[in-house]
Amino acid sequence: MSEHTGFHHVPVLFEETLTALALTPQGIYLDGTVGGAGHSEGILKALHGDCALYALDRDQNALRAAAERLPAYHQVNLIHGNFHDAKELLPGIQFDGILLDLGVSSHQLDTAGRGFSYHEDAPLDMRMDQSQGLTAADWLNTTSELDITQALYDFADERWAARIAKIILEMRAEKPFETTLDLVRAVDRAIPKAVRRKDEGHPARRAFQAVRIAVNEEINPLNAALADLVEMLKPGGRLCVITFHSIEDRVVKQAFNRMKNPCVCPVDAPICTCGKLPIVSLPKGFPVAPSDDEINDNPRARSAKLRCAQKL
Ligand SMILES: C[S@@+](CC[C@H](N)C(=O)[O-])C[C@H]1O[C@@H](n2cnc3c(N)ncnc32)[C@H](O)[C@@H]1O
Repeated sequence: MSEHTGFHHVPVLFEETLTALALTPQGIYLDGTVGGAGHSEGILKALHGDCALYALDRDQNALRAAAERLPAYHQVNLIHGNFHDAKELLPGIQFDGILLDLGVSSHQLDTAGRGFSYHEDAPLDMRMDQSQGLTAADWLNTTSELDITQALYDFADERWAARIAKIILEMRAEKPFETTLDLVRAVDRAIPKAVRRKDEGHPARRAFQAVRIAVNEEINPLNAALADLVEMLKPGGRLCVITFHSIEDRVVKQAFNRMKNPCVCPVDAPICTCGKLPIVSLPKGFPVAPSDDEINDNPRARSAKLRCAQKL
């Protein structure tokens, strides 16, 4: 753990990711989600000579932690920004490999003041980039009942979505949402105790996931971002993506499949007339899941999946 920032460094699927990137020592790489820089450090250790690593994060605290962890590496360029904007942030650069380790870091989850955790009472913020956008409290206080229902359903498969949204509107009419416990209370009032299942974890887990994804706009721009990132690869370069839940994994899987087989001709057409050619191949052996040992050491790795696409 870093002395100054309190960052835990337990990079998920670490060896598997470095292998998937097929690193070349003089390559140019992009870590689109540098976080505590565990993966970035692994990449930098494999590079030498005329090489570079560009590392983005939308969270300034993550960039501070990364800067503390990587002072010895002059090849690293740390940039505050969203990988959805990578094309504008890094114009004209062609990469040998790009990594996305999606979602929130352990540090963000464990820092009570950030509002990601349903275990601590804290201001309901949940923004990865605290310099812009609505906080989770603002979002819950201003979003329509229908849109809250939709987010709970789309971003967390919450089967009590409509009821939770209704209770949120009732509660906010009395007093605006301010803290994490306000959201925990809304879920507690909405989901009958008799139907709660122990194997599904904390009842507020799904609502917190959905609100976090909505506030940080994690899912809707992902498809376009993956297409941009593939465009930024050199031929033969690889895009590796680690996901942590089925909704995000489905977007990555479908985007990679579409780039592998973009043809939109009718299935019974004798020849392709749409002219859309494959952009990537999908190397064998993916998705990769963590080993039992890794899950024992780091239970948060449990739901991780690594996928990889190689530009043709
Ligand atoms: C799971 S952590 C990455 C951990 C990192 N691989 C390591 O080894 O420490 C995810 C990080 O990605 C950042 N992040 C999530 N979505 C992002 C986005 N769209 N653009 C830039 N950073 C993002 C988060 O702020 C967080 O720091």
